[in-house]
Amino acid sequence: MIREWDATAYDALPLPHLRWGRRTLDRLTLSGDETVLEAGCGTGRDTAALLDLLPQGRVIAVDGSARMLDRLRARLADGLDRVDVLQADLTEPLPIARADAAFSVATFHWIHDHDVLFANIARALRPGAPFVADCGGRGNIARVRAALAKVTGEDPEVWNFAGAEETRQRLERAGFTDVRADLVPDPARLEPGEQFESYLATVVLGAHLDRLPRSEHQGFVHAVAAELAEPVVDYVRLEFSARRAGG
Ligand SMILES: C[S@@+](CC[C@H](N)C(=O)[O-])C[C@H]1O[C@@H](n2cnc3c(N)ncnc32)[C@H](O)[C@@H]1O
Repeated sequence: MIREWDATAYDALPLPHLRWGRRTLDRLTLSGDETVLEAGCGTGRDTAALLDLLPQGRVIAVDGSARMLDRLRARLADGLDRVDVLQADLTEPLPIARADAAFSVATFHWIHDHDVLFANIARALRPGAPFVADCGGRGNIARVRAALAKVTGEDPEVWNFAGAEETRQRLERAGFTDVRADLVPDPARLEPGEQFESYLATVVLGAHLDRLPRSEHQGFVHAVAAELAEPVVDYVRLEFSARRAGG
């Protein structure tokens, strides 16, 4: 499901996504002249890092959120001639063919059908192309979910926190080979109070807040934060690497 993000608040936060992006980039070997598909590019932090690694290459930066992409265009103003910015839903077939690599950070847990997602990515890649990604994995933010369940009385299927083995199987079914998938606990500690609540509201609870009137947002986030013993988001990352079969 496509939803809008508060790109300004997002970029103002101390995001663990920065280290997740670096770790994911470290798993991608590039020559410098490739075209790389970035799936869920957000405000373009990793797009900029990719461009630095691609002096003769390009990035196809895909995201569903118009506001995130506006921010990316502003951030990359000097390098936009080497970026194709595409507002698209990753659950729909992408108008991309024969990209040389795919890269994604902190996006896939927002997508319920990973079979469809991986098939779309596979179709966008040339045979042999690498695919590296990070997203929330099985067990992710269990304490935050328990706090949410206390506040709301339910634990709706907002996210898709997939396991390593099921992801490996899905990637192989979608036409990938040389698959490696791991779950990596990686909690993020925020400043208590305003910073933690802004983080929860902007990064974690957006889909919950979309269902509430704006007047209730602050109280809801405060109630969830109050259920947590410390200002920590107990992340478990699903990190995977694969290669499009046939190369
Ligand atoms: C937490 S942000 C991560 C952004 C960026 N990769 C980063 O690390 O900062 C998740 C991004 O995934 C995008 N997204 C989620 N579901 C999507 C979908 N179905 N199609 C396209 N983009 C999607 C959102 O719009 C958002 O920009």
